[in-house]
Amino acid sequence: MIYLDNAATSKFKPRCMFDAMFCRLSDSANPGRGGHNDSLDCAIMVNDARATLKTLFGADDDYHIVFTSGCTEALNLAIFGYLADNIGGNVVTTVFEHNSVLRPLNNLLQRNVIDGIRYVSPSDPSQCVSAEDVAKYVDGNTRLIAVNHVSNVTGATADIERIGELANSMNIPLLVDGAQSLGHKRLNVGKNKISMLAAAGHKGLHGSQGAGFLIFRKDMKVRPIRFGGTGTFSDSLIQPEDAPEGLESGTMNTAGVIGLGAAAQWTYDNFDKINSHIGYLASQALYGLSKIDGITVYTKTLSGVISFNVNGVDSSEVADYLNDNEIAVRNGLHCAPLAHRFLGTEKQGTVRMSIGYNNNAYHVSRTLDVLEKFCKLPRP
Ligand code: ALA
Repeated sequence: MIYLDNAATSKFKPRCMFDAMFCRLSDSANPGRGGHNDSLDCAIMVNDARATLKTLFGADDDYHIVFTSGCTEALNLAIFGYLADNIGGNVVTTVFEHNSVLRPLNNLLQRNVIDGIRYVSPSDPSQCVSAEDVAKYVDGNTRLIAVNHVSNVTGATADIERIGELANSMNIPLLVDGAQSLGHKRLNVGKNKISMLAAAGHKGLHGSQGAGFLIFRKDMKVRPIRFGGTGTFSDSLIQPEDAPEGLESGTMNTAGVIGLGAAAQWTYDNFDKINSHIGYLASQALYGLSKIDGITVYTKTLSGVISFNVNGVDSSEVADYLNDNEIAVRNGLHCAPLAHRFLGTEKQGTVRMSIGYNNNAYHVSRTLDVLEKFCKLPRP
């Protein structure tokens, strides 16, 4: 199989991630749930992973990091946990958001916890959401700005640096969805004035599924969304709210988070090699697609996330044909319905090929050949 679905989950994983996970799985203990040496050793490793991830993303002592099951839980924690104490008012977000942002926000709207959601569209043909685009929607009642860094549909990249300056100047917290960007972009939460950064471990950071995190400023109150054992204040029937433990109830995915620490460090140690490789293959793919009659491309960046359609053909038909030819892509709406409304593809969906470190030039040229053949098939 030629795997071109790295935006769903990266195929390539570094050896150090397997080693870290194997070591933890073959010598299991529960961190923070015992005073014996095995539990304490495990807690030290989890805290080392916290420190690694905080350092990689510029989070100093002003920030907490909470481990989650993935980016969906991290975004839910940020949105429900922060807006619990910031009711009323509006939230400014973008048309590129994933349902992990759209659905929590619309749930709060349905329950009258917030008064409105404002969706920013990019004004520039590059599809980059700029600070100027966001500024048009922000006012004195804006409780939160939530911005997707890199779109999982087109790879469109928001100008986080300037949006961070805007949010900071207006004293409004900025939540960044880094699901698709981490590992492919350098982000520094302190310098970029990011209040909360939500991350998936299993995409560009090359970790396993089931581990992600939320980094957030310590001066923000984020309430728990999951209740249970924390290993702290166990005599109390009331949930402790101190981060990280109060927000991490239940036994954590210890192997996953320790593996994620190792994988993320490896990724940033090899950042230029990985991303120049992906950029090179992305330009090969975009150039090739532009030469095939009957294909419309929606992507404007070299992020490696490329959405396209064969004109007049449902995206599922194209993806099925590619699958029959041993090529894995994802089609449909990619859980980001407003991005497709923006592109005008809400009915057809798009075919998304997402390039990763596992891919090579043959994978791209073979895919282009199969697509060219598909476009030449007789159609009624
Ligand atoms: N959010 C992931 C994707 O874009 C699963 O495919």
